[in-house]
Amino acid sequence: MSIRVNVNGTLRGANELHVSVLDRGFLYGDSVYEVIRTYEGRPFALGLHLDRLWRSAEMLEIEIPVARAGLIERVRETVTAAANKVTYIRIVVTRGAGEIALDPAYARDPLVVVIVAPLRRIPPEWQEDGIRAALVPVGRGPEGSVPGGAKSGNYLANLMALGRARRAGAEEAILVDTAGLVTEGASSNVFAVRESRLFTPALDRALLEGITRGLVLDVARSIPLPVEERDVRPDDLLDANEVFITSTLREIVPVVRIDEQRIGEGLPGRVTEDLLRRFRERIPALLGWDEGIPQP
Ligand code: PDD
Repeated sequence: MSIRVNVNGTLRGANELHVSVLDRGFLYGDSVYEVIRTYEGRPFALGLHLDRLWRSAEMLEIEIPVARAGLIERVRETVTAAANKVTYIRIVVTRGAGEIALDPAYARDPLVVVIVAPLRRIPPEWQEDGIRAALVPVGRGPEGSVPGGAKSGNYLANLMALGRARRAGAEEAILVDTAGLVTEGASSNVFAVRESRLFTPALDRALLEGITRGLVLDVARSIPLPVEERDVRPDDLLDANEVFITSTLREIVPVVRIDEQRIGEGLPGRVTEDLLRRFRERIPALLGWDEGIPQP
């Protein structure tokens, strides 16, 4: 069980590589990133994560100074060197270092870091019994200043929201934007079921297009379960029969309480459990290193 990092192509142990204090990822959160996990030594949905990394970089006009195949090779080397049974993979691309100045024109030498560490598994009771969530209002910066769909390294709003939720005794924060609409979790997407219909906030609400979210929508449509991507208000969640969150590291986790209110029977719901089972059945088909990973 070990941590290995790869900085611009150089592979080392966790404490042997350093990045510049002038790096804009450090100074401004001027970076994009992806979190991927392995099952049985092979990455899950690697192609979809790389697609999103390139999309995020494009939205923020960060140039990724390595080709896709080269990046896959770095990830593979780093995962092999770490030799963990189940691994967490983080790819970070920053705009680079340079003179200290806000103007992105001063950025030099974009940085590509791959961090591989043992995956800290979620407590099994989260999936078995469900978790609590807290609604947290999140005031965003100047409207539209950062595209909400970009997985940027600037996570302060989400981090503060999670801190607030944890202090309230919840395991995840559900973010509510300035228009009073639910967007996503602090590091997850949010779904609800009411009268056998599945709904989740639409992507035009400036939220991350989760890889797990996309796969869950796909699984639901194949059942078929009616699906709506739409505006979601906090009351829609509180009145739902079932609520759950999705993310790479947590797959699907039922939410059985939001703030002081029990959701449905206060137990993981039947639809949520069915979606989790079907999602897991799809995992083997999405494992692999190849460029030609099947798209869902
Ligand atoms: N984050 N929304 C936000 C804000 C997230 O940070 C994440 C995941 C998701 C779910 O996306 P996906 O299904 O692609 O993991 C939604 C990762 C896991 C993280 O930062 O740790």
